[in-house]
Amino acid sequence: MPENVITLKNDWPDGFDFRTDKTCQEVFKPFIEDQLKKLAAYDAQRPANITYIFHEHAIRVGDMLKKTCLHMGLGQTVAENMNWSGQPHDIGKMEQSTSVWDKKERVDETHPVYALRRIHPDLGVQIVETELAGISHPFKDLMLDIMKYHHERMDGTGPHKIPGERLSAPVRLAAIVEAYDGSTIPRGHEKETGRDISPPGALTRMRAKGPAVFDMDLFEPFAEMILTEYKKTLEFDKPEP
Ligand SMILES: [Fe+2]
Ligand SMILES: [Fe+2]
Repeated sequence: MPENVITLKNDWPDGFDFRTDKTCQEVFKPFIEDQLKKLAAYDAQRPANITYIFHEHAIRVGDMLKKTCLHMGLGQTVAENMNWSGQPHDIGKMEQSTSVWDKKERVDETHPVYALRRIHPDLGVQIVETELAGISHPFKDLMLDIMKYHHERMDGTGPHKIPGERLSAPVRLAAIVEAYDGSTIPRGHEKETGRDISPPGALTRMRAKGPAVFDMDLFEPFAEMILTEYKKTLEFDKPEP
């Protein structure tokens, strides 16, 4: 596991191809599919009215990572490697009681569950280290890198206090994609608070947070990809003339 990875700007994973690599297909793919099944079972134990469904978030994050990589011209291999490595980023959430996640009230730094929520990246890493012990592969390093650091912030005030220049490009992109997905999920108080969860609304709120939180060199191509997709859905929804 790379501790406090110091990486170059262009460290996109292109040294193997998840779709054809034997270890990826025989070890990592079944592992990820099994973990997502377990995450779905965990979601099923949560209250019926929840809107932030973790196993669905996992798939969307993988898909948006893939689409952003393709939009940036990084190619199919990097795009698929990112799709698969991003999907299991939140599996550590299952190690905690469901009551940690589903609160009626807003959870900020002063809330008793705040600190508990912040350890899910490390709990996920423990699952991987236990279940895939003895396996050494660049995909495992990539998956662990994203899992461990997906809540870091560029200014180094995230859970592990790792500043942006020491986070890999895959991690910096995953942090954007995963935060975006959370920003588009209804929390039930949109009417009262005016929180805009449309794609343009979520992107505007993220852009306002800016470079202290996100790598804006990656944010802008991501935003472009999202808005292109969004416009397609608007065209699709238009009534026939
Ligand atoms: Fe997370
Ligand atoms: Fe997440």
